[in-house]
Amino acid sequence: MQYSSFKERLSVVKNTNEVFYDNAIIDTPCLTLRKFCKEDATAVLEYGSDDLTIKHLIWDGNKTLEEALTNITEYYWTSQGIYAIELKSENKCIGCIHLRLKPNHEKASFGYVLNRAYWGKGYMTEALDAILILAFEKLKLNRVEASHFVGNEGSGKVMLKCGMLYEGTGIQQEKVKGVFVDNVHYGITKERWESLQKNKAESLK
Ligand SMILES: CC(C)(COP(=O)(O)OP(=O)(O)OC[C@H]1O[C@@H](n2cnc3c(N)ncnc32)[C@H](O)[C@@H]1OP(=O)(O)O)[C@@H](O)C(=O)NCCC(=O)NCCS
Repeated sequence: MQYSSFKERLSVVKNTNEVFYDNAIIDTPCLTLRKFCKEDATAVLEYGSDDLTIKHLIWDGNKTLEEALTNITEYYWTSQGIYAIELKSENKCIGCIHLRLKPNHEKASFGYVLNRAYWGKGYMTEALDAILILAFEKLKLNRVEASHFVGNEGSGKVMLKCGMLYEGTGIQQEKVKGVFVDNVHYGITKERWESLQKNKAESLK
């Protein structure tokens, strides 16, 4: 498709603010994705102060409750597409998932982090599945992509489980905490996502 102007290109992804507003709360079987509140500061400190949890992140984490609160008010509240992941059974925030829109390309990337006490229970797969519905069904994007650093293959498994495909590895692509690291890339197009959803629906018949 040819676009005649920058304005026209932007208008293809319509009313993104409105879509985020309408989807401020996303319900899944075990989780509620919702806006962070000040009361989440202890929970943010819990995952943000754990060295193993932040090992493969660019984020340096939080060391104090004050830092965690600032993280909520200065970052989580000021960026579009950031959701707290609340575990319904405990009414507790156990992590964060962030859909980062790149409207010019009708695509988005994402990042996520989960409290270590809740790893391996399928929660991030459940959260990412919901975020992909937001991206493709509600925001009408054409593509979603993400990457993880080599050594953090668990993150790639979540992406694969949600239907994303491995697209290649950038050698020494980033310098993270003083070390050059390889970056493993995954992506999924709207076409592939829709076809996977169709297959899923048919297998349930
Ligand atoms: C990566 C992370 C988000 C995974 O969340 P999670 O809720 O534990 O993932 P899920 O339970 O949905 O797991 C999905 C699959 O990945 C596998 N997996 C998850 N973490 C894994 C790990 N560390 N090592 C190997 N496999 C892993 C699970 O076993 C599961 O596969 P299976 O169904 O075949 O058993 C979580 O470990 C985390 O927050 N890590 C620290 C922050 C981080 O690295 N964020 C990503 C930056 S790119």
